[in-house]
Amino acid sequence: MNSLATIDWAAYNASAAGRPARRIVTRAILAAGGEGSGKVALDIGAGAGADSLEFARRGWTVHAYDIDETLSHRLIENRRMSGEVVFHHADASLEDSFPRADVIYSSDALPMLGPEGLERAWPRLVDALRPGGIMAVDLFGEQDTWAERPDVATLSTAQISSMFSRFQILEREVRDEDGRFFDGKKHWHVITTLARKRA
Ligand SMILES: C[S@@+](CC[C@H](N)C(=O)[O-])C[C@H]1O[C@@H](n2cnc3c(N)ncnc32)[C@H](O)[C@@H]1O
Repeated sequence: MNSLATIDWAAYNASAAGRPARRIVTRAILAAGGEGSGKVALDIGAGAGADSLEFARRGWTVHAYDIDETLSHRLIENRRMSGEVVFHHADASLEDSFPRADVIYSSDALPMLGPEGLERAWPRLVDALRPGGIMAVDLFGEQDTWAERPDVATLSTAQISSMFSRFQILEREVRDEDGRFFDGKKHWHVITTLARKRA
């Protein structure tokens, strides 16, 4: 079993660069009050930035974090958008704090922080979210192929419930099926949650 450090995220992100934004981006924007200036999103593990760029097209400022630099090559698109992507080339699990945000978004990336990294980052992310703000994130469940990996955070239902104890759940979607990762087959057990932080 390779360690996550050996996954070529630059190659993965290059292969995903052209994908359309996920529909949950629009739902998060609507739940947080819609388009407009002054709104801030964080995108943790933003990859090639398909979702970050969608927030920025809608007038949002996005703080996009990733250990891979692919997104830095797309920042020229800031010139064409009403909002802006601010790229942080950083390990999100090591950040002491995050900018204040209306939405915290993460697609298929929080588990990659690892069990300890996610445990450290999660309370800092929750603190950064304004009361009433929206958390829209994927977490991996225990049926995921990568549950056997010590470097990926896979979580029980009880652990996920406790992470959202300060939230009202607006939507929850569970993907529990065989599929593919870009370099092979994989069972995906992905719990996607859209939730509002209680005031
Ligand atoms: C499966 S990809 C998802 C990328 C993007 N969110 C998407 O949906 O296309 C996981 C991303 O997490 C990033 N990543 C892994 N560990 C990270 C860490 N500790 N801090 C920040 N980003 C990390 C990888 O570089 C990669 O871009």
